[in-house]
Amino acid sequence: MVPPAVQWQPMSPILRCILAVALLGCGCLRDSKSSPDANAPDAFPMASFDFSGLDPLLLSTTAAPAGLEVATARANELLGGMSLDEKLCLVRGVSGAYVGNVTATAGLPALTLQDGPAGVARFGDVTAFPAPITLAASWDPDLVQRWGAAMAAEERGKGVMVQLGPMMNMVRAPAAGRNFESFGEDPFLAAALVAAEVAGIQSQKVVATAKHFIGNEQETNRDGGDSLIDERTLHEIYYAPFEAAVNAAVGAVMCSYNRIGGTYACENPATLGDLKSGMGFSGWVMSDWGATHSTVASANAGLDMEMPDDANFGSALAAAVAAGSVSQARVDDMVRRILVSLLRLGVLDDPPTGTPATVVTSAEHSTLAREAAAAGVTLLQNHDGALPLDATVKSIAVIGSAGGDAPYSLGGGSAYVNAGNVISPLAALQAQAESTMTIAYARGDGDDDDQEQAVGTASAADAAIVFAAVDSTEGGDRDSLALPAKTDALIAAVAAANRRTIVVLHAPGAVAMPWLDQVKAVLVAFYPGEENGNAIAPILLGADNPGGKLPVSFPRAAEDLPAVSKDQVVPYSEGLAIGYRALDAQKIEPLFPFGHGLSYTTFAFADLGVRAGAAPGSIALDFTVKNTGAHAGSEVAQLYVGFPASAGEPPWVLRGFKRIVLAASESKNATIEISIRELGCWNPDAHRRYVPSGTYYFAVGSSSRDLPLQARVQIQGLGP
Ligand code: BGC
Repeated sequence: MVPPAVQWQPMSPILRCILAVALLGCGCLRDSKSSPDANAPDAFPMASFDFSGLDPLLLSTTAAPAGLEVATARANELLGGMSLDEKLCLVRGVSGAYVGNVTATAGLPALTLQDGPAGVARFGDVTAFPAPITLAASWDPDLVQRWGAAMAAEERGKGVMVQLGPMMNMVRAPAAGRNFESFGEDPFLAAALVAAEVAGIQSQKVVATAKHFIGNEQETNRDGGDSLIDERTLHEIYYAPFEAAVNAAVGAVMCSYNRIGGTYACENPATLGDLKSGMGFSGWVMSDWGATHSTVASANAGLDMEMPDDANFGSALAAAVAAGSVSQARVDDMVRRILVSLLRLGVLDDPPTGTPATVVTSAEHSTLAREAAAAGVTLLQNHDGALPLDATVKSIAVIGSAGGDAPYSLGGGSAYVNAGNVISPLAALQAQAESTMTIAYARGDGDDDDQEQAVGTASAADAAIVFAAVDSTEGGDRDSLALPAKTDALIAAVAAANRRTIVVLHAPGAVAMPWLDQVKAVLVAFYPGEENGNAIAPILLGADNPGGKLPVSFPRAAEDLPAVSKDQVVPYSEGLAIGYRALDAQKIEPLFPFGHGLSYTTFAFADLGVRAGAAPGSIALDFTVKNTGAHAGSEVAQLYVGFPASAGEPPWVLRGFKRIVLAASESKNATIEISIRELGCWNPDAHRRYVPSGTYYFAVGSSSRDLPLQARVQIQGLGP
């Protein structure tokens, strides 16, 4: 059943245009890029695959984690020697030096839990790495794994056994306050990065915690809000990163504050059942801090540990066990799950020895923080080669306090990491370029005089760089996607005074850019951590080439994507259509599309071939990428699947990606393989995955809206 390889050269834009106009009678460029339905069907060669005889188990999840059997046997032995009181000590929090603490009992050490998704929170002498959304913009699982390992090494150095991250809620509402802690709006991208981060964290004998399970996509009303998510959407979008974490053998999961379909997440038998029975999660579920609302219902639904105290799992749980409303077997299951993860990951055999006072930052970690911050810098617009600043630029104006005396590192809340010293863009530019250009600085974002002074500084320079930051934090959502009004006014005023105005954004995700047409270039550096300027300056100066790609869509209008709900009930009525999926489905032009990111060089894709992959039911896409410009750089090849219309999927869904590094003029062959599981859709009637039969489109390119290589493939599916 190996079909012949299919070669296809991209159609010339003119031919594509003629065909699209002939067939559709509408604007060719946008339609040819945004929707598989709009492609001229006969323009693409067919390949066909028959998956109907394959084992349907290929579509379901999990391989048991390595070492599970041995760890379970050891946990059972320990359990056999514990009294009920000792067991109950393990399933609740006590106060202590860490954000989460479990008392030492039955010869076991005290357990230590600490945030979080961006590194060691609350303590000093740590490395302030960039935020997860910055790492998401790198589209680089290898980097994410190294970052995970470095963060966990610092956690362990501080005496931490359980790191409270990664955070894997989806960017559904672009203004949601914790989006910067996440990996963006696409479940496939998030899943790939989560798996890498979990592997990195757990390589350091630190348990990773996948949070927040589930439906915690906004902060407004998070304590009682009720997320209404249909079964298919839950499985295809919101569970996907958690399944990836389970597949990566994550040791712990944190259930969220909100309700799902009327029932609190930490006492929800349906969703916790999906996690434990459906996905095969073998570790323990802890509550978010204060997210436990009951004793019996929570214990019987699957909550294994209350955090940070014992309001429900203290004497109330002991009484429930005595009364028989929570069984001893269930208590054993809670304790076994905790012990199994701790044993499997080596924490109990080799407990950490550090304390909160231990210095854990290092030069090596700062270098990694710089690499990660640079990898996330995404060039959104670059007219007339405004960047990099070349030899014609003899003087620059650095405008905005985020560029000088108030450099930005990270969003707020439990993920916040103390940065000893944030390197400002101004300091880094001075260190790296003062011999070749004069550098002036003006805050510009104080009172009117400030703005006037900044405009004066900008007009006297060959190029003006405005640094604009927008805050985001746990505990609240942004009111809108707008930058502070003063910042918008400053950018417009500087752009009017200097024809080479460049904007650098420190943002948690999408922002509105009313001044976009007035400025030459825009870079978004997300939240860059302590190495801020050291990462950004080389990119501005051309010593480094930006390669970041947007992990979220930047909509033209906030209304184009779901808003934060102000009500207690949060209906996820858009279903599968979040982010670019929604914009594609409604044919709405984004400001900048998901996956977009320019480089100082240019790339061309060619020669798409489709063949059977190595694993049963997998499909391999071969293609070439050429660096057609004069700088070395890297491109992220993105593979999107257009499912048969009967599947009811959005037009394109990301199902593969690969970062390819190319010297000037270099060309490389690349292959992306899609597993059959990635061709699965959730059937809510049968409560399982199936591969729909019909015509599929596979498209490869540089963003969700720039897909020059496309192939049409016939698939005989599997199931339902
Ligand atoms: C957050 C969690 C965090 C916990 C402990 C909660 O407010 O939602 O993400 O891990 O606090 O700091």
